[in-house]
Amino acid sequence: MTPRLAVVHHRASDWVPAIREAVPNLDIRGWHPKDAMTADPDWLSTAEALFTWRFPDGFFARMPKLKWVQNAGAGVDHLLNHPELPPNIAVSRADGRFGEWMSRYVCGYLLYEAQEMEACREAQVAKKWLGNLLPERLHDKLALIVGFGRIGRHIGTALKVFGMKVYGFATADRADPDFQVHAVGRLPEYMSQARVLVVCAPSTSATKGMINAKILAYGNPGLTLINVGRGSQVVLPDMINALDNGKLGRAVLDVFPTEPLSHDEPIWSHPKVVITPHHSGPTVPEDLIQDMLPNLRAYAEGRPLVHVVDMAKGY
Ligand code: GLV
Repeated sequence: MTPRLAVVHHRASDWVPAIREAVPNLDIRGWHPKDAMTADPDWLSTAEALFTWRFPDGFFARMPKLKWVQNAGAGVDHLLNHPELPPNIAVSRADGRFGEWMSRYVCGYLLYEAQEMEACREAQVAKKWLGNLLPERLHDKLALIVGFGRIGRHIGTALKVFGMKVYGFATADRADPDFQVHAVGRLPEYMSQARVLVVCAPSTSATKGMINAKILAYGNPGLTLINVGRGSQVVLPDMINALDNGKLGRAVLDVFPTEPLSHDEPIWSHPKVVITPHHSGPTVPEDLIQDMLPNLRAYAEGRPLVHVVDMAKGY
């Protein structure tokens, strides 16, 4: 039988033709998550592979032969923590061009502040020429990046272009030819001098709630927190306290403990919070297919998979 790949994704209509073109020797069918429970049960019950990001509860039970889940994203926490994830299956992640996209996001919001774009826009509306407006100097200012894998390093490289001093933080001190990389426990040493704190760590039990009152107490009023990791990593009430008490200048949040962010969350209207809809690292076929090709081909040809997630580490 031709190997079957089920695609459950909110943009399944883009993914299915793109994967089909790249790997013609697969039998592929796709559904939007809201339609996935109506999928042909006979076809699904023999498919061994699933490409997905969000999927409906109860879906795994429809795939009793499932052997491999290819995640349509960098973080696999939603899969590994899913109570219905069958045992003994392989989960693989994709790297795509997340570093590139997420560097754009981080630099975009930092430069928005540093270039005083809001003030310029307001002045334009008032037809005012702000002749004395000086953009902020970023040279030698300190950027702290928590989570220093491929994405974190890419962001660090981008921030260096503006002359910033970049320190990465990982589970342990690490030798790196281009950056100082410290154990995350050393974060408090640098918080009082930092201009930006970027969170882009994988979501694990060790990173849950790591940006909390204890860490933020070392912050400063000029510090911008940018969270592109996971919502669970920043304790929101502690963050709001820090914003209100001069330990943090602004928070730019792309991720939240529950998404979509509920309409009645007071954080929507906090003047020092910027909220974006988890779009800092999008997955598009043009970026991801190349990355997934070795696995899609290996699966189609019955060879072992690569980029398989270490279940014990959680990434
Ligand atoms: C998005 O958040 C991802 O993990 O790819």
